[in-house]
Amino acid sequence: MVAGTIAHSEGLEMGLLDGRVAVVTGAGRGLGRAHALALAAAGAHVVVNDLGAALNGEDTADTPAESVVAEITAAGGSAIADTGSVSDWESAGSILAHAIEAFGRLDAVVNNAGITRDKVIASASEQDFDATIAVHLKGTYALTHHAATYWREQSKAGNPVSGRIINTVSGAGMFGNVGQSAYGAAKSGIIGITLATALELRRYGVTVNAISPLARTRMTAGLLAEVADGTFDPVAPENASGVVAYLASAESGWLTGQVLRIEGNRLIRMRQWTPDGAYTSRGEGALTADELVDGVPLLFGTMPTGVTSLNK
Ligand code: NAI
Repeated sequence: MVAGTIAHSEGLEMGLLDGRVAVVTGAGRGLGRAHALALAAAGAHVVVNDLGAALNGEDTADTPAESVVAEITAAGGSAIADTGSVSDWESAGSILAHAIEAFGRLDAVVNNAGITRDKVIASASEQDFDATIAVHLKGTYALTHHAATYWREQSKAGNPVSGRIINTVSGAGMFGNVGQSAYGAAKSGIIGITLATALELRRYGVTVNAISPLARTRMTAGLLAEVADGTFDPVAPENASGVVAYLASAESGWLTGQVLRIEGNRLIRMRQWTPDGAYTSRGEGALTADELVDGVPLLFGTMPTGVTSLNK
């Protein structure tokens, strides 16, 4: 039995994603390519979206989506290419319409397309900010909007829905990273979209989760060490793809609003922002600046509490 398949009760093999239709954005290279190959290997019909952008988002003559479709079909899978941009509202809708026209339905959207324009904020331009936000944040929002519209219609028409949105975030959006203030803002914004839409779309049978991968792609060129042939590569792009295939499947319908980080062969559950201590005003009303001179160090544990704690 190959990875991504489960034994059928009559001895045949069934893929975890048999009959499901998935769109993967930015799937011509890197992580998206690995996700598209894995989804197709597990039985999904895949729309391989990629406009062939340079790393900084500028247009090129490359056609990586077609190459990935050729790889999938050569391996016996089902895929079509789409070259629309995720950051254009209409074109984001067309990518999903393309899936529905070709395969009759839509079950999963993997929002993966991305660019980087890493610069410290003092050196960055307005265009760097706008381009980064347009692909990551607006692109994720636009595809989610169009998919949500489709699944809401399906649900209201009484058709069963098991919709899946899988967003792509990053350590830069959770922990901060020098040179990635715009990229980090986009990625933490995508966590915001994930949380809100998980709540909104649950009633229609749609889950929304995010992965935080780490992979050797052109985006991280030179940053991650190569490993010897034949040994497990902890930063191979396909390490995250089994998680994407699981999240795209009907089996993950109970899980929503989560951020899952993948490091090598470890799947890490990330905790959301959560309160961690509090200082309450000593007075009857609002906090005053004067009391915070002692109150904030107390809250952050940088001042001894003393015998009688200031903290009520
Ligand atoms: P990559 O540069 O290899 O692939 C990104 C693909 O997105 C490219 O093929 C590009 O043509 C496409 N793309 C760019 N703009 C597009 C648009 N407007 N519409 C459609 N496609 C577009 O990069 P990689 O590393 O595979 O990144 C994939 C995702 O994973 C990105 O969202 C990235 O931010 C995220 N990520 C990557 C990490 C890594 O370690 N490589 C770490 C954390 C997150």
